[in-house]
Amino acid sequence: MTSATVRKNPYIRNPYIVGPPISEPELFFGRRKKFDFIEDNLRQGAQVILFYGQRRIGKSTVLKQIPNFVGQNDFVFVQFDLQNKSQLPLSRVLDSLGQAIINQLQLWSDHSKLPTVTELKTNPTLFYESFLPKVYQELGYKKLVLLLDEFDVLSSDNPASSKESSVNTFFPYLQSLIEQDQRLFIITFIGRQLDDMPKLLGLFKGAPSQKVGLLSERNATELITEPAKGSLTYDSEAIDAILALASGHPYFTQVLCHALFSQARTEQKWQVTCDDVTRIVDDAIEIGEGGLTWFRDGLPIPERVIFSAVAEAQKKAERK
Ligand SMILES: Nc1ncnc2c1ncn2[C@@H]1O[C@H](COP(=O)(O)OP(=O)(O)OP(=O)(O)O)[C@@H](O)[C@H]1O
Ligand SMILES: [Mg+2]
Repeated sequence: MTSATVRKNPYIRNPYIVGPPISEPELFFGRRKKFDFIEDNLRQGAQVILFYGQRRIGKSTVLKQIPNFVGQNDFVFVQFDLQNKSQLPLSRVLDSLGQAIINQLQLWSDHSKLPTVTELKTNPTLFYESFLPKVYQELGYKKLVLLLDEFDVLSSDNPASSKESSVNTFFPYLQSLIEQDQRLFIITFIGRQLDDMPKLLGLFKGAPSQKVGLLSERNATELITEPAKGSLTYDSEAIDAILALASGHPYFTQVLCHALFSQARTEQKWQVTCDDVTRIVDDAIEIGEGGLTWFRDGLPIPERVIFSAVAEAQKKAERK
C-alpha cells in the first residue's frame, strides 16, 4: 500500500501508545544505556539493582524490554508486579511469585513442585530450600533474574502499610533470600525517590541504582517521528514545539503525538505544523487526563516544567 492509500483509510490505527507499558521493541525508544548498566552489573554479580523514577516516566516499559536487550544466553527473566499485593500475607505473595516463575519459564505442566500456601505459611523458607533449587535444576547454568515492578508498594516506608500484610515481611524475607542464594538476582522498579525510602535503602545497602528519567532529544525525536512513518510527517518546527512542550517525557510526548495523529486523520491533513501542535494542546491534556490527575497532586519540580511549557504555548497561541 502507498502512503496515500494508508492515509485515506479512516480506520488507520493510531500508532502512539498512551498508557500501558510498551512491549513491542519497535515502538520502544531510548534507554539503551540502561541495558548496558544492567548487563554489566549482573555479570559482576550484583544481586540487587534498583531503578527509580517518577510516575509514567517509563519504568515498567524498561522492565518489559529487559529480556529483549540483556544477555538471553546467560539469564532468564521473570516479571512480577507487586501492585495490589501489599495487603496479602507473605505466603500468598510467595505463592504468586512461584506461579509466575513456573508459568513464564514454562517449567512444568503442573504446579506440584511449588509448596502450597498453607505450607508456605507454616514454613516460608520452603520457597528457597525446596522450590528454587528445583527451578535451578531446570535452568542449568542460566541465572534467574526477578524483575519486580512497583517495588515500593511492599515497603514499610509506605505509610499505608499494616502489620499483618507482607509490607513488613517481604523485604526482610527477600534480603535473607538474596544472602543465602547466590544464584538469585533481582531488579526492582520503584516509583519514588530513593531518599524517601530509607528502610529500603538500608536493607539493600550498596546496591547499584539508576534513575529512569527524561529521554534525550534524539530519542524523543525518534519517538515522535518513527511510529507514524509512512503516514504522518512533521515540520521541524513542529518537532521542536513537541520537544519543548514535553521536555523528553515519553508519556507526554506520546500524548501529544496521539492527539496530533487523531487530528491529522480527522482533517486528512498529514503534514504536522507548529500551529497544529499548539492547537492540540487542550486535546492532549484531555487524553492524558487519567495520567494527569496524579500530576496535579504534587510532583517534584522538574515535572511541573511541562505544565508551565503548556501554559506558555497556550499564551503564545492566544497572542497570535
Ligand atoms: N521508552 C519509551 N518509548 C516510547 N514510549 C514510552 C517509553 N517509555 C514510556 N513510554 C510511554 O509512557 C507511558 C508510560 O510508561 P510506563 O507504564 O512504562 O511508565 P511507568 O513509569 O511504569 O508508570 P507508572 O509509574 O504509572 O507505573 C507508556 O504508555 C508510553 O506511552
Ligand atoms: Mg509502571
